[in-house]
Amino acid sequence: MPTRKTAAGERALVTRTRAALDGLEHLVGGMGTAALALLALTGLLAVAVSCLAGVGLRLIPTALRGLRAVADRERARLSRWGPEIVSPDPVPGRWRAALAQPAVRRELAWVSLHATLGLLLGVLGLTLPFSGVRDLLYPLYWWLLPASEVVSAGLGWRTDDWPGAFAVSPLSLGWFVLALVFIPGMARMQARPGRRLLAAPGADLALRVAQLTATRAAALDAHATELRRIERALHDGTQNRIVAVNVLLGAARRAVARDPATADELLDRAQDAAEQALAELRAVVRGILPPVLDERSLPDALSGLAAACPVPCRIDAEVPGRCPASVEATAYFVVAEALTNIAKHSRARRAVVTVRGTGDRLRLSIADDGRGGAAEDGGSGLGGMRRRAEAHDGTFELTSPPGGPTTVIVSLPCGL
Ligand SMILES: Nc1ncnc2c1ncn2[C@@H]1O[C@H](COP(=O)(O)OP(=O)(O)OP(=O)(O)O)[C@@H](O)[C@H]1O
Ligand SMILES: [Mg+2]
Repeated sequence: MPTRKTAAGERALVTRTRAALDGLEHLVGGMGTAALALLALTGLLAVAVSCLAGVGLRLIPTALRGLRAVADRERARLSRWGPEIVSPDPVPGRWRAALAQPAVRRELAWVSLHATLGLLLGVLGLTLPFSGVRDLLYPLYWWLLPASEVVSAGLGWRTDDWPGAFAVSPLSLGWFVLALVFIPGMARMQARPGRRLLAAPGADLALRVAQLTATRAAALDAHATELRRIERALHDGTQNRIVAVNVLLGAARRAVARDPATADELLDRAQDAAEQALAELRAVVRGILPPVLDERSLPDALSGLAAACPVPCRIDAEVPGRCPASVEATAYFVVAEALTNIAKHSRARRAVVTVRGTGDRLRLSIADDGRGGAAEDGGSGLGGMRRRAEAHDGTFELTSPPGGPTTVIVSLPCGL
């Protein structure tokens, strides 16, 4: 029991560290756009001052176009790690019309927040791990510092001798813990004004409606394909076997009086056919929702698939909780089809399946070191994976240059 607890603790720490590193990456990116926002804000203030002097009105559209360029950079950055934010219509050429554009007004609110709070959050976020590294390495460099810069004040002990310098290193732990705890939230806070103010509500809604119409069609399509598959499996397999049972039982009944030996043999065959029908029925049922998902977790179910794959396959799964059954079933079928493809087509030496449950998404990546060249129009499997993912409002990406390697990445919303 304690080992299971330790393993869960380790997994939570790894997930937390990964979230903090992701957050740090976002904070650094956000700091870049915040610095640009500060420049744009300074330009806008200069134009505003010149307007007060009565000479800057003509400069307003140009300054606002500069602001749009900076806001578009932030839109592109935020779109890379969340829902896409589309750029609004271009800034009108006349200053009155430009200032009246709702998107411009929201950008003005955003630039004042991002250039100040966004920059501050970026600097604070970087300070935490930087201070950790500084304290950790203090014993290596304290003796190089000029006497006036040796930090002895505030810590309560001397840091300008060896024991004192070594006593500084453990402080780094505190900084790293603070970084782990606060950085993901700081990254979200830094991105919030951009997500709220840079996404034009109307355009966003129209895009969303188009996306939902497409995914609804994909869902219906996937549903129809699934029904066809089940219908074929029942028609070609189970139904045929039961017809055979019926015929054999009829023949046995006719033979029972005149030739009991033949009747016995026919009954044997009927029993075999009934058992086969049962086995096929079980396979069909398993194809609808694998029972292993019902009994065990998604990582366990995927380990079962990996064990059955003829190409050596490693599963690296970190999923903190359970996703809705339909999402887990989609993840299972995607991995099952990807591994079947690897076994059938890739000539790979090994494959790796990575599953991560982060935030509200389940991300799957199935990679092999085979010959590549996979194409969606080559069969029905890859296209089926895309339809399954899109039916859940998820995404599907295939990278498979000739010569390999091949990677399939599927991301599904799941509200973990
Ligand atoms: N991992 C892979 N490595 C190399 N080629 C691949 C890989 N996966 C798929 N392919 C190529 O892409 C094509 C399309 O794959 P897809 O799964 O859509 O069809 P399929 O496996 O041929 O048939 P099915 O409809 O039974 O799945 C395959 O025919 C194969 O040539
Ligand atoms: Mg296939």
